[in-house]
Amino acid sequence: MRRPDASFMKMGNLFSLFKSVAERSEVFLRARRYKKRTLFERLSPDIWDIGSNHNGHMSIGGCDVTELAQHYGTPLHIVNLNRLKQNYHVFRNSFAELYDRSNVYLSYKTNPVPGLLKVLHQEGAGAEVISHFELWLALKLGVAPGSVIFNGPYKTEEALDLAVQNGIKLINLDSLDEVSRCETAAANAGKKQNVGVRLVTSVGWASQFGLKIATGQAFEGFQRLKQAKNLSACGIHLHLGTGIKNVDTYLRAIREVLEFCRLLQQKLDIHITYFDLGGGFPVASVKKFDMVDEKLQSMGIPPMQPELSSTPSYRSYATKIMGLFRDFYSDFDTSGKELIFEPGRAILSSAQTFVVKVGTVKSTGTKNDILIVDGGRNIAIPLSWEYHEVFAANKMHKDRSVIYSVYGPLCHPSDILFRAAPLPELRTGDILAIMDAGAYFIPNSRNFSFPRPPVVMVSEGKHWLIRHKEQFDDIVRLDKEWLS
Ligand SMILES: Cc1ncc(COP(=O)(O)O)c(C=O)c1O
Repeated sequence: MRRPDASFMKMGNLFSLFKSVAERSEVFLRARRYKKRTLFERLSPDIWDIGSNHNGHMSIGGCDVTELAQHYGTPLHIVNLNRLKQNYHVFRNSFAELYDRSNVYLSYKTNPVPGLLKVLHQEGAGAEVISHFELWLALKLGVAPGSVIFNGPYKTEEALDLAVQNGIKLINLDSLDEVSRCETAAANAGKKQNVGVRLVTSVGWASQFGLKIATGQAFEGFQRLKQAKNLSACGIHLHLGTGIKNVDTYLRAIREVLEFCRLLQQKLDIHITYFDLGGGFPVASVKKFDMVDEKLQSMGIPPMQPELSSTPSYRSYATKIMGLFRDFYSDFDTSGKELIFEPGRAILSSAQTFVVKVGTVKSTGTKNDILIVDGGRNIAIPLSWEYHEVFAANKMHKDRSVIYSVYGPLCHPSDILFRAAPLPELRTGDILAIMDAGAYFIPNSRNFSFPRPPVVMVSEGKHWLIRHKEQFDDIVRLDKEWLS
């Protein structure tokens, strides 16, 4: 093994020293600014169209959240139907008003609750699936095969057979192996299947995904497709990451992709019809914690709220992306090409609220007081890496005056929801509403010692269950022979 030389190690040490001094001073400056001004300031409820009624209770879709918590029990997910539909139309129209062959295929993995997916399909969304289960679910929900796109780095033979037999709109291949596997599936079914390739550009997620343009692998993928009699190469796929607040990241990747498509046309006579640009579009009220937020929280200080103005509107993503396509193809508007988007977060996040009840309040004497609530990281794992606003749903008119550390019910020290959350003074039985819970909460939730919560939908003062509360029997359904 090669040992790093001593001078290199010294430079490394010096660099870490500078870095840690810079970090500390930034944390210190932010913490001071905070103490003076913003420590207790948080995002406004208007962002989620939530109100509060005469009792000072939060209301969503005309329903009192505290009453819903009593009626259905906690923890509880609440989906705001109107907001869900509105998010879909705002996103889609941002692109479709500039180019009418722009369509949304909802990312199933972001929140695969059938009652909610059904609503979005009725509004016109297609399905973007990444597993055999999700493909099966889309077909079971009655989504037309022509509105299903199949992605993901591991497509089983059974899943490819199901996709090909149903003639789904597009299978985006993720590796060279998948080219031959998909060709076999299509040949066995005696069909010709539309396929694309997930491309990896110089920006965005790479790791295990797709085929890189820069190494020539992506080109090799299309060369092989050209030979495959039962596959029609007509799509490209990109997915750059999640919560991307910089439009330039998309522009840079798309520019590279368009250059690549020109090459495909010139060298292989392959003409791309489906430009699947993936998901990744952000919501303003959620941000990934940065290094300073992490430090602040480790000192018991709340993280800084997201700056809403730093998130561009979907229309501005659309304007710039469309501009790029039109610069590239003079005949773009008459070419019949389709722009495909696979948003998850942008549509689902702000339409769902996660509600928990305070079971215990503990004073530590030295650090922040502690709240123990009835839902933890078993359900709300994104709180470990993202800022999410939290309100006391039954004390909306009370000022935030205490900083609490909020823990879940799991018997584990890492079961923490908020390391430092400014809230009104709270007692046992009070209700917390965690915002932007519609993306990646439910698919990441587990029945770690506790059953998973129900999901209720609300609109215009009415509420109805769209997913039942998991029962003990459901948890042991696969182990029945061991129980008396
Ligand atoms: C291929 C693909 N498309 C779409 C999405 C949805 O992403 P987002 O929720 O950031 O829009 C994901 C999520 O990781 C994905 O992997």
